[in-house]
Amino acid sequence: MDSRPAKNSLTILTDLVLPGETNPLDNLFGGELLARMDRASSIAARRHCKRIVVTASVNHVAFSKAVPVGSVLTIEAKVSRAFKSSMEIFVDVWIEDRESGEKTKVNEGIYTFVAVDETGTPIKVPKLIPETDLEKDRYEGALRRKQLSLVLSNKMKPSDATELKALFK
Ligand SMILES: CC(C)(COP(=O)(O)OP(=O)(O)OC[C@H]1O[C@@H](n2cnc3c(N)ncnc32)[C@H](O)[C@@H]1OP(=O)(O)O)[C@@H](O)C(=O)NCCC(=O)NCCS
Repeated sequence: MDSRPAKNSLTILTDLVLPGETNPLDNLFGGELLARMDRASSIAARRHCKRIVVTASVNHVAFSKAVPVGSVLTIEAKVSRAFKSSMEIFVDVWIEDRESGEKTKVNEGIYTFVAVDETGTPIKVPKLIPETDLEKDRYEGALRRKQLSLVLSNKMKPSDATELKALFK
Protein backbone atom coordinates (compact mmCIF):
# COMPACT_ATOMS: atom_id res chain seq x y z
CA MET A 1 0.00 0.00 0.00
CA ASP A 2 1.34 3.46 -0.88
CA SER A 3 2.29 6.22 1.57
CA ARG A 4 0.79 9.69 1.51
CA PRO A 5 2.09 13.05 2.82
CA ALA A 6 0.34 14.53 5.85
CA LYS A 7 -0.43 17.72 3.93
CA ASN A 8 -2.79 15.86 1.60
CA SER A 9 -5.22 15.41 4.50
CA LEU A 10 -5.30 19.08 5.55
CA THR A 11 -8.89 20.20 6.09
CA ILE A 12 -9.84 23.78 6.93
CA LEU A 13 -13.38 24.72 7.98
CA THR A 14 -14.18 28.40 8.49
CA ASP A 15 -17.58 29.44 9.83
CA LEU A 16 -19.36 32.01 12.01
CA VAL A 17 -20.50 31.44 15.60
CA LEU A 18 -24.24 32.21 15.66
CA PRO A 19 -26.43 33.02 18.72
CA GLY A 20 -28.21 29.62 18.68
CA GLU A 21 -24.85 27.87 19.23
CA THR A 22 -23.83 29.61 22.43
CA ASN A 23 -24.09 29.12 26.20
CA PRO A 24 -25.63 31.63 28.68
CA LEU A 25 -22.35 33.61 28.62
CA ASP A 26 -22.74 34.10 24.84
CA ASN A 27 -19.72 31.91 24.15
CA LEU A 28 -19.70 28.92 21.80
CA PHE A 29 -21.21 25.79 23.43
CA GLY A 30 -18.52 23.14 23.94
CA GLY A 31 -20.55 20.35 22.33
CA GLU A 32 -21.06 22.46 19.19
CA LEU A 33 -17.32 23.00 18.89
CA LEU A 34 -16.66 19.28 19.40
CA ALA A 35 -19.10 18.45 16.61
CA ARG A 36 -17.36 20.84 14.23
CA MET A 37 -13.95 19.41 15.19
CA ASP A 38 -15.25 15.89 14.66
CA ARG A 39 -16.51 16.80 11.18
CA ALA A 40 -13.18 18.39 10.19
CA SER A 41 -11.23 15.38 11.55
CA SER A 42 -13.49 12.99 9.71
CA ILE A 43 -12.82 14.76 6.40
CA ALA A 44 -9.04 14.79 7.07
CA ALA A 45 -9.06 11.04 7.84
CA ARG A 46 -11.12 10.34 4.73
CA ARG A 47 -8.78 12.44 2.58
CA HIS A 48 -5.85 10.35 3.80
CA CYS A 49 -7.29 6.87 3.35
CA LYS A 50 -10.12 7.48 0.83
CA ARG A 51 -12.36 5.05 2.73
CA ILE A 52 -15.33 5.23 5.12
CA VAL A 53 -14.06 6.42 8.52
CA VAL A 54 -15.63 6.39 11.99
CA THR A 55 -14.66 8.20 15.19
CA ALA A 56 -13.03 5.68 17.53
CA SER A 57 -11.92 8.04 20.28
CA VAL A 58 -11.57 11.67 21.30
CA ASN A 59 -8.18 11.47 22.96
CA HIS A 60 -7.73 15.02 24.12
CA VAL A 61 -9.53 18.37 23.99
CA ALA A 62 -8.43 21.60 25.64
CA PHE A 63 -10.89 24.50 25.74
CA SER A 64 -8.22 27.07 26.53
CA LYS A 65 -10.14 30.22 25.51
CA ALA A 66 -13.83 31.08 25.18
CA VAL A 67 -15.19 31.74 21.69
CA PRO A 68 -17.61 34.72 21.68
CA VAL A 69 -20.74 34.85 19.55
CA GLY A 70 -20.02 36.46 16.17
CA SER A 71 -16.48 35.02 16.01
CA VAL A 72 -15.08 33.73 12.75
CA LEU A 73 -13.87 30.29 13.73
CA THR A 74 -11.32 28.31 11.73
CA ILE A 75 -10.76 24.62 12.36
CA GLU A 76 -7.66 22.98 10.88
CA ALA A 77 -7.47 19.19 10.96
CA LYS A 78 -4.64 17.01 9.66
CA VAL A 79 -3.72 13.36 10.06
CA SER A 80 -0.64 13.12 12.29
CA ARG A 81 -0.01 9.37 11.98
CA ALA A 82 -1.58 6.32 10.39
CA PHE A 83 -1.30 2.92 12.05
CA LYS A 84 -2.92 -0.30 10.70
CA SER A 85 -6.55 0.76 10.44
CA SER A 86 -6.52 3.79 12.74
CA MET A 87 -5.37 7.35 12.20
CA GLU A 88 -4.59 10.08 14.71
CA ILE A 89 -5.87 13.52 13.73
CA PHE A 90 -4.70 16.79 15.25
CA VAL A 91 -7.20 19.64 15.27
CA ASP A 92 -6.24 23.27 15.88
CA VAL A 93 -8.93 25.91 16.38
CA TRP A 94 -8.46 29.64 15.82
CA ILE A 95 -10.51 32.81 15.96
CA GLU A 96 -9.54 35.95 14.10
CA ASP A 97 -9.64 39.60 15.07
CA ARG A 98 -12.23 41.46 12.99
CA GLU A 99 -10.00 44.46 12.23
CA SER A 100 -6.45 43.11 12.09
CA GLY A 101 -7.30 39.58 10.95
CA GLU A 102 -4.77 38.32 13.52
CA LYS A 103 -5.47 34.74 14.60
CA THR A 104 -5.61 33.48 18.21
CA LYS A 105 -5.54 29.77 19.00
CA VAL A 106 -8.50 28.89 21.25
CA ASN A 107 -8.65 25.14 21.28
CA GLU A 108 -6.94 21.95 20.19
CA GLY A 109 -7.98 18.36 20.05
CA ILE A 110 -6.71 14.92 19.13
CA TYR A 111 -9.05 12.40 17.58
CA THR A 112 -8.69 8.78 16.49
CA PHE A 113 -10.55 7.60 13.40
CA VAL A 114 -10.70 4.06 12.02
CA ALA A 115 -11.17 3.16 8.35
CA VAL A 116 -13.86 0.55 7.85
CA ASP A 117 -15.44 -1.36 4.97
CA GLU A 118 -19.17 -1.37 4.16
CA THR A 119 -19.82 -3.80 7.01
CA GLY A 120 -18.03 -1.62 9.58
CA THR A 121 -14.98 -3.92 9.78
CA PRO A 122 -11.62 -2.13 10.22
CA ILE A 123 -9.40 -2.13 7.10
CA LYS A 124 -5.79 -1.14 6.41
CA VAL A 125 -4.88 2.49 5.68
CA PRO A 126 -1.88 3.93 3.79
CA LYS A 127 1.12 5.05 5.86
CA LEU A 128 1.58 8.76 6.52
CA ILE A 129 4.68 10.76 5.58
CA PRO A 130 5.36 13.68 7.97
CA GLU A 131 7.32 16.50 6.28
CA THR A 132 7.41 19.66 8.42
CA ASP A 133 8.97 19.84 11.91
CA LEU A 134 5.51 20.07 13.50
CA GLU A 135 4.24 17.08 11.50
CA LYS A 136 7.33 15.07 12.53
CA ASP A 137 6.90 16.04 16.18
CA ARG A 138 3.24 15.01 16.23
CA TYR A 139 4.04 11.79 14.34
CA GLU A 140 6.69 10.83 16.93
CA GLY A 141 4.30 11.21 19.89
CA ALA A 142 1.35 9.47 18.25
CA LEU A 143 2.14 5.89 19.32
CA ARG A 144 2.46 7.01 22.94
CA ARG A 145 -0.93 8.75 22.76
CA LYS A 146 -2.50 5.71 21.06
CA GLN A 147 -1.28 3.47 23.86
CA LEU A 148 -2.58 5.88 26.50
CA SER A 149 -6.00 5.96 24.84
CA LEU A 150 -6.08 2.15 24.63
CA VAL A 151 -5.07 1.79 28.28
CA LEU A 152 -7.74 4.29 29.39
CA SER A 153 -10.41 2.43 27.42
CA ASN A 154 -9.32 -0.93 28.85
CA LYS A 155 -8.15 -2.20 25.47
CA MET A 156 -4.50 -2.50 26.45
CA LYS A 157 -2.79 -3.59 29.64
CA PRO A 158 -0.59 -0.86 31.13
CA SER A 159 2.25 -3.40 31.18
CA ASP A 160 2.05 -3.64 27.35
CA ALA A 161 2.20 0.14 26.85
CA THR A 162 5.92 0.20 26.00
CA GLU A 163 6.02 3.79 24.73
CA LEU A 164 4.23 5.09 27.82
CA LYS A 165 6.50 3.19 30.17
CA ALA A 166 9.55 4.57 28.38
CA LEU A 167 8.49 8.07 29.48
CA PHE A 168 9.11 7.15 33.12
CA LYS A 169 12.52 5.49 32.68
C1 LIG B 1 -13.91 2.03 16.01
C2 LIG B 1 -14.27 0.56 15.78
C3 LIG B 1 -14.43 0.35 14.26
C4 LIG B 1 -13.08 -0.26 16.28
O1 LIG B 1 -13.46 -1.59 16.14
P1 LIG B 1 -12.75 -2.75 16.98
O2 LIG B 1 -13.54 -3.99 16.81
O3 LIG B 1 -12.45 -2.24 18.34
O4 LIG B 1 -11.46 -2.97 16.13
P2 LIG B 1 -9.98 -3.10 16.62
O5 LIG B 1 -9.85 -3.54 18.04
O6 LIG B 1 -9.30 -3.90 15.56
O7 LIG B 1 -9.46 -1.62 16.52
C5 LIG B 1 -9.28 -1.00 15.28
C6 LIG B 1 -8.23 0.07 15.45
O8 LIG B 1 -8.75 1.09 16.29
C7 LIG B 1 -7.86 1.34 17.36
N1 LIG B 1 -8.64 1.75 18.50
C8 LIG B 1 -9.77 1.16 18.97
N2 LIG B 1 -10.19 1.82 20.06
C9 LIG B 1 -9.32 2.83 20.26
C10 LIG B 1 -9.21 3.85 21.24
N3 LIG B 1 -10.09 3.98 22.22
N4 LIG B 1 -8.17 4.71 21.15
C11 LIG B 1 -7.26 4.60 20.17
N5 LIG B 1 -7.31 3.66 19.21
C12 LIG B 1 -8.34 2.79 19.27
C13 LIG B 1 -7.14 0.00 17.57
O9 LIG B 1 -5.93 0.18 18.25
C14 LIG B 1 -6.95 -0.42 16.13
O10 LIG B 1 -5.88 0.34 15.58
P3 LIG B 1 -4.86 -0.25 14.46
O11 LIG B 1 -5.66 -1.16 13.55
O12 LIG B 1 -4.39 0.96 13.72
O13 LIG B 1 -3.78 -0.92 15.20
C15 LIG B 1 -15.58 0.12 16.50
O14 LIG B 1 -15.35 0.19 17.91
C16 LIG B 1 -16.74 0.98 16.15
O15 LIG B 1 -17.34 0.80 15.09
N6 LIG B 1 -17.11 1.93 17.03
C17 LIG B 1 -18.19 2.82 16.76
C18 LIG B 1 -17.70 3.98 15.88
C19 LIG B 1 -18.75 5.06 15.75
O16 LIG B 1 -19.89 4.77 15.51
N7 LIG B 1 -18.32 6.32 15.91
C20 LIG B 1 -19.19 7.41 15.90
C21 LIG B 1 -19.67 7.62 17.29
S1 LIG B 1 -21.15 8.50 17.31
